[in-house]
Amino acid sequence: MKIDVLLGLQWGDEGKGKIVDVLTSNYDVVARFQGGPNAGHSLEFNNIKHVLHTIPSGIFHPKSLNIIGNGVVIDPIIFQKEIENIEAISGTINNLIISKKAHIITPTHRILDAASEKNKGKQKIGSTLKGIGPTYMDKTGRNGLRVGDIISGNFKEKYESLKNKHLELLKIYDFDFNIEDYEKGFFEAIESLKKFKFIDSEYEIDKLVKEEKKILAEGAQGTLLDIDFGSYPFVTSSNTVTAGACIGLGIAPSKIGDVYGIFKAYCTRVGSGPFPTELFDADGEKIRELGHEFGATTGRPRRCGWMDLVALKYVVMINGVTKLIMTKADVLDSFDTIKIATAYKVDGELTEHFSCEADSKIEPIYKEFPGWNEDISKLNSYEELPENLKKYIRFIEEEVGVEIAIVSVGPDREQTIIR
Ligand code: GDP
Ligand code: IMO
Ligand code: MG
Repeated sequence: MKIDVLLGLQWGDEGKGKIVDVLTSNYDVVARFQGGPNAGHSLEFNNIKHVLHTIPSGIFHPKSLNIIGNGVVIDPIIFQKEIENIEAISGTINNLIISKKAHIITPTHRILDAASEKNKGKQKIGSTLKGIGPTYMDKTGRNGLRVGDIISGNFKEKYESLKNKHLELLKIYDFDFNIEDYEKGFFEAIESLKKFKFIDSEYEIDKLVKEEKKILAEGAQGTLLDIDFGSYPFVTSSNTVTAGACIGLGIAPSKIGDVYGIFKAYCTRVGSGPFPTELFDADGEKIRELGHEFGATTGRPRRCGWMDLVALKYVVMINGVTKLIMTKADVLDSFDTIKIATAYKVDGELTEHFSCEADSKIEPIYKEFPGWNEDISKLNSYEELPENLKKYIRFIEEEVGVEIAIVSVGPDREQTIIR
């Protein structure tokens, strides 16, 4: 049995949480493979909205096993809160296991993140300040603390040694902090992690595959925030692409099946960095308002813009997307005209080559589509969708060469059209 992957194709917040929750009924296992609590994955059912940061979005399906893979970084304090929130609604969680090799975000990682961002001034990344960058730096620098260390006898010693290294590093920054504020609740939260089974996700996944279990790997962030292929340095610190699922769970590339690539019917970005189709006018405001485009993790207003086909072709190529999923088409319901960038003019030259160089001047070339001026949020089948929306969908499919298999028309589980 092959393992399917679902990942974001833009700058995050494409609706991964919602769609993973919907698809979980077809899977036995959902496994997160990278990122940490910089992610905010929302899902909605029975009129209640849930936001997950570290825990896979299959958690509300008691029959599905949820795995936090080695590629994920965990902040024990945020994790504990997530657990408490879910348990308050659904009772004790007993369908979650965690890789021993996942790294721990410590209080001083968060301080380093904040200090580094402050030091960057106008060049700041717009990090979520969850300590993501410093934690992955310690992972690749071979200094990090892993979940498996929690159960080793000398965790406290290892923690203190890393903390002292960080305190030395922090001396280069002009940054005031009170370590006690950051450390509050950390050790209690570490204790609460211990109630979950720690595993080697590579062996666990191998076993599940041999048992013919259906597995969905859930990505966080989006391809345009990938550390290698995104708009560096305005990216996150992990590989958000399909290959990241292999690394972040221990899956052989030959075991990957379908790759679900999810994108909004327009684009958003939160944080700094290039965004070729960004709107600074009333259309941008309207998308933000109708799409409630405010970060699920930080509450920051998301920057909004038109769909970008140049970027979409690039990310479909890198990820080997086999099925596309379009979300938030309903947000465009009341627009008379909808635009889609089909090429860029970069420093005066026409190109369809996606480049995210922060300093080049990119002017998008748009194709216009007439809007559908109809409420689609209550529609249940593809056939019912307005003809103008179908034209928009067909155009994207033809240009990209991949079918749009799911169209999401609202935040609720039920508002999902599967073709
Ligand atoms: P994720 O990080 O990719 O899981 O996405 P977020 O949860 O950060 O942001 C997506 C937001 O859009 C959430 O508030 C969802 O509830 C909402 N959402 C998801 N799909 C749809 C949709 O098709 N239509 C509308 N209107 N909202 C949606
Ligand atoms: P989900 O999984 C949107 C952005 C931050 C910042 C950059 C680096 O919900 O789609 P970091 O905290 O990783 O150092 O921030 O990446 N970012 C996200 N934007 N959705 C996310 O996750 C994001 N995770 C990080 O805003 O620009
Ligand atoms: Mg999000």
